[in-house]
Amino acid sequence: MTAKIIDGKAFAAKVRAQVATHVAKIKQSHGVTPGLAVVLVGEDPASQVYVRSKGKMTVEVGMNSYEHKLDADTPEADLLALIDQLNNDDNVHGILVQLPVPDHINEDLVINSINPAKDVDGFHISNVGLLGTGQKSMVPCTPLGCLMMLRDYHGSLSGLDAVIIGRSNIVGKPMAQLLLGDSCTVTIAHSRTRDLPDVVRRADIVVAAVGRPEMVPGDWIKPGATVIDVGINRLDAPEKGEGKTRLVGDVDFASVSQVAGAITPVPGGVGPMTIACLLANTLTACCRAGGFEEPEGLTA
Ligand code: GUN
Repeated sequence: MTAKIIDGKAFAAKVRAQVATHVAKIKQSHGVTPGLAVVLVGEDPASQVYVRSKGKMTVEVGMNSYEHKLDADTPEADLLALIDQLNNDDNVHGILVQLPVPDHINEDLVINSINPAKDVDGFHISNVGLLGTGQKSMVPCTPLGCLMMLRDYHGSLSGLDAVIIGRSNIVGKPMAQLLLGDSCTVTIAHSRTRDLPDVVRRADIVVAAVGRPEMVPGDWIKPGATVIDVGINRLDAPEKGEGKTRLVGDVDFASVSQVAGAITPVPGGVGPMTIACLLANTLTACCRAGGFEEPEGLTA
């Protein structure tokens, strides 16, 4: 069997178009432009690339983008003061502090100082608690993007066995909550899980989010299962030329795509959906702040 490729790039373009249409509508009917503030502390090259790309796409859907670049040695108090200023700025509907932050800054303190209503990452403890109890919240972007693709492919997820590999706060745990919310039977596997291949073989849905290149082989996959690959790992690719690299997921695409029913590729799967969901969350935050009608299908 050769798996259907779930095209995250095309899906993300559709989500962004939906966001852009709704942004134009609220601009026209309410005179409000959604605004996203992104804060980057330090000069991590990968983070710089992400932040640039987020800013560009924010503007492309008609929103305002506010970028705040702080030196790597910025005191924690200065970052907290900036967040306080953004919390109180009515033009800013979403705030994202790019992670990781430098070691001298307490990440939890920073995340929990963001107004939960503007926490477009969905990392604030209030949003984590709301999601965990099935209440309206801001939902972390990567798992939200995965959920959208799964719903689109399967229709109903009710009763399906889902195995998530990885227990991070950013992906694994919120992904579990979202799939539970859609009535899956959910297992979170991790580095200490016994008989991981057997656990994964039970799954109708596999979400791989461990950050280990190509660790899931095809013989762990139940024939016909849906595989969502959250990993983005950069490997050296001397075959492409000196100093060249290539991106691979946490899944061995070559073997898994022979067994799975559907699979997200890397690149072009989950990655583009994450930024699209960030824009969707910013729009959602703006609609909730203004009491405007929320767009359909862009939240959990
Ligand atoms: N760094 C890597 N992924 C993320 C993310 O989803 N949100 C933030 N704020 N930082 C990140």
